[in-house]
Amino acid sequence: MKDRESVANTIRVSFLVCLVCAVVVSTAAVSLRDLQQQNRLEFRQVNILRVAGVYEPGMDLGAAFGRIERRFVAFDTGEYVDMPADFDPLRASRDPELGRPLESDPAGIRRTARVGEVFLLRNDDDQVMRIILPVHGAGLWSTMFGFLALEPDANTIAGIGFYSHGETPGLGGEIENPRWQRLWEGRRLLDDDGNVAIRVVRGAVPEGASNEEHLVDGLTGATITSEGVNQLVRFWVGDQAFGPYLDRVREEYRGEQRAGI
Ligand SMILES: Cc1cc2nc3c(=O)[nH]c(=O)nc-3n(C[C@H](O)[C@H](O)[C@H](O)COP(=O)(O)O)c2cc1C
Repeated sequence: MKDRESVANTIRVSFLVCLVCAVVVSTAAVSLRDLQQQNRLEFRQVNILRVAGVYEPGMDLGAAFGRIERRFVAFDTGEYVDMPADFDPLRASRDPELGRPLESDPAGIRRTARVGEVFLLRNDDDQVMRIILPVHGAGLWSTMFGFLALEPDANTIAGIGFYSHGETPGLGGEIENPRWQRLWEGRRLLDDDGNVAIRVVRGAVPEGASNEEHLVDGLTGATITSEGVNQLVRFWVGDQAFGPYLDRVREEYRGEQRAGI
């Protein structure tokens, strides 16, 4: 009894408890790493399918995502390029070779990779139905990450979704609200002169505004977050990011329309 309460025994028992806990925690961390990686991948796939408008709860993700092709695009030329499958544009943006500082930085992200990724949803006839662009930029409290889906004309918005941000629930957090996201559907990126005209306005879009097809209501009480979304969307479809690529897609699309395909 005396021995059990000795200082040496207390230290011995504490050490053993610490050792057992350390083994349990590190085993859990190592053995769950693959599962976490898999969950992150599936979360991204769900969000891409959702913004493409084809997600249904309980669907076979592997099969559904099989219809989506991932391509890489050089931002300066707008051409497709080959990259390793594990290329991560966010990580690459911090690399001195693979990334670049931005000349102007309306989205508040300082750098991007030189190459971005796009996701193409094809139909059974192999035609592109949706072009999905990853987008991100600064809100009030956080960097907001999402996807913008475009119709095959590379001008009409098919959907927008945000899957990671730290904006205030009920205020800036309303960027997740499907009702607000639906306001984007059918809006057009470019005006007749080919300039980026899409814009989130402060408050509601004035009724009968002549440029209504380019305007989206701002979020009430979240002007800074709304302006962040405005700037990030305009940045990612603009000259410094996917602009040259989208120009190329539009040109091809118009060619196909003329050829009656
Ligand atoms: C606790 C708290 C959280 C806020 N969260 C946000 C937010 O997530 N996004 C945002 O734009 N404004 C947020 N605001 C409001 C801003 O401080 C600012 O007042 C607002 O963006 C101005 O927009 P308004 O002109 O629509 O009121 C928050 C304010 C408070 C007090």
